[in-house]
Amino acid sequence: MTKRILVVGLACVDIISVVQDYPEEDSDQRVLDYYWQRGGNAANTSCVLSLLGARSEFLGTFATDREAEFLKEVFQKYNVVTENCVTNTDNVKTPTSIVITNSKNGSRTILHHGKNWPEIKPEHFKKLDLTQYKWIHFEGRPSCDDIKDMLLWIDEYNKTVDKDARIRTSLEIEKTTRIGLDNLFDTADTIFVSKDYVKSRGYKTKEEGVQKLYAKCREGSEIICPWGEEGAVAVGTDGMLHSSPAFPPKLSPGQNMETLAAGDTFNAAFILSRSKGQSLNEALTFGCQVAGAKCGMKGIDGLD
Ligand code: ADP
Ligand code: FRU
Repeated sequence: MTKRILVVGLACVDIISVVQDYPEEDSDQRVLDYYWQRGGNAANTSCVLSLLGARSEFLGTFATDREAEFLKEVFQKYNVVTENCVTNTDNVKTPTSIVITNSKNGSRTILHHGKNWPEIKPEHFKKLDLTQYKWIHFEGRPSCDDIKDMLLWIDEYNKTVDKDARIRTSLEIEKTTRIGLDNLFDTADTIFVSKDYVKSRGYKTKEEGVQKLYAKCREGSEIICPWGEEGAVAVGTDGMLHSSPAFPPKLSPGQNMETLAAGDTFNAAFILSRSKGQSLNEALTFGCQVAGAKCGMKGIDGLD
């Protein structure tokens, strides 16, 4: 049986309005389109992985409201396993994002609410049968100590199995205000660090960011930084800088750019490529190609 790629983190509902022009405050205008879709970095990444042909599992928490039922149906539609998810019955509400996408340039403005959302706990994670997985990816949620605990658990498991049965780990360090993430660079084999994070820590360029932050990563690991329309850079286990340009989508007349979840798509494609044994350069290029294609479509449904 092919082993799964597990993605741990958030599933939320994105309520998207597509606008002609970015709105002025206190204005009243009609939008070009609106729709609901699954959101949350982990949910997006797990669905893209499945579309690209991986056996994909999402691990996160569900509420008991109608939005949670919608999300479960979506995961089923994308053939993403959710059998180990936790349902929280404490009357919590599914986190929601209001997203404004600008048809002119594809920008996405996200207004998210997920206060006090119950995250996956190590007690729960440690019940998983780790023999089922070849790769486990964590979204850098606010529960930083718990993420570290779960990654250490995988490290301990890896010591007990043959080299080819080891699970590869990755962690996305994206949000600039989650200070605890600063201490997690040495906890995974692959670190994805965001443009916003790199800029917020005072680095001037993507190259400087990955080269300096690589010093915080553990031996034998790699650090990746996607950077919008400039593509992506990385430092690999060889200590060298690697890069890929972006692949802008070819838009037909009337078709809009949409960058929502481009980063989550990049991560999925990169992980899939690396999990198949492809090189760092191949994975960077594939990540940028798939993320670029996503920018030329509404949602992710054309990626399969
Ligand atoms: P996010 O803001 O969703 O985290 P990024 O801006 O870091 O995502 O972009 C992730 C990847 O998506 C980039 O590495 C690039 O390959 C692709 N991408 C994003 N924006 C564009 C764009 N305007 N044109 C082409 N590719 C893009
Ligand atoms: C995109 C995304 C959205 C979600 C938001 C949460 O990367 O996952 O789907 O609303 O970010 O921060």
